[in-house]
Amino acid sequence: MNRVEIFEVVARDGLQNEARFVETADKIKLIDALSQTGLAKIEATAFVSPKAVPNMRDATEVMAGIKRAPGVIYSALVPNLRGAEAAIASGVQEVNLVFSASESHNKANVRMSCEESLTALSTIISTCKAAGLPANVSIATSFGCPFEGIMPAARVLGFIQSCTEMGVSQITLADTTGMANPAQVEALVSQTRKRFPDLALTLHFHDTRGMGLANVYAAYHAGARRFDASLGGIGGCPFAPGATGNICTEDTVHMFEQMGVETGVNLPKLLEIAKTLPALVGHDTFGSVLKAGRSCDLHPMPK
Ligand code: COA
Ligand code: ZN
Repeated sequence: MNRVEIFEVVARDGLQNEARFVETADKIKLIDALSQTGLAKIEATAFVSPKAVPNMRDATEVMAGIKRAPGVIYSALVPNLRGAEAAIASGVQEVNLVFSASESHNKANVRMSCEESLTALSTIISTCKAAGLPANVSIATSFGCPFEGIMPAARVLGFIQSCTEMGVSQITLADTTGMANPAQVEALVSQTRKRFPDLALTLHFHDTRGMGLANVYAAYHAGARRFDASLGGIGGCPFAPGATGNICTEDTVHMFEQMGVETGVNLPKLLEIAKTLPALVGHDTFGSVLKAGRSCDLHPMPK
């Protein structure tokens, strides 16, 4: 049977841009519940400047408070060496380094040029290696940038090349503001897999323009088997105008199940947790399956 891995980013991407700070204890409860659903990886938090992203200011406490389930990889996003060192000290199992393919978004997000980010990257990778931890590199705005427009594939492939030359074996291509379309996704995933066949490639989509699950399908069709998603479809980058939610985890799992693709995720359990999310964030969330039920949940005939 075909199989995909689903990486849950609600505790980081999901909560980072919310108007309301979700209390540390509630974040821990949410992550602990998600740990019991069969997700392959959970991005628990981000070790970033508390001034830049106040919602992630409790990163150390979150990492210290969660119960680690066997078989789940707990990772954290980091923008710089300081963040990587703090993440390693907190006991993450994987560090997720972020920089953007576009100069302008990289400046807005982490206040560095792409060149500076790449230089920092090489030090961070050595630091992770010394700590015995894998480093994943997330390339934000890989498909499009809200300041610069559509990202040329050659530029993204060039960054992947630079990362692999530094010894990186895991890359996430992120569509930060939902600008990717399925044809573009299929082309970039195919080219990436052809040029870097040994790379562990993850796709990170936002549903900003309603193309999220179509992009997942296009990437899957082109051979991608790892996907980031956020419970309830919440999320977004605070430094990208118009950013809105990630693809919704429960809708993504449901789609793959309906396609006969194994995710390892227990969908009923996931839906139970998704139900608790609006109370945490203080507004309705975006998942369709939570509202409509699964396709297999049939209704009685009218009398
Ligand atoms: N963790 C915590 N604090 C950090 C930090 C980190 N990884 N890196 C820097 N800081 C602190 C500094 O100590 C300094 O604090 P102070 O003002 O109290 O002295 C402040 O942040 C600014 O530090 P500086 O080195 O001048 O960084 P900057 O202002 O150029 O900001 C980043 C750079 C990367 C730290 C900041 O832009 C950031 O955290 N961005 C996160 C982006 C993000 O998470 N985006 C969403 C996900 S894609
Ligand atoms: Zn994102």
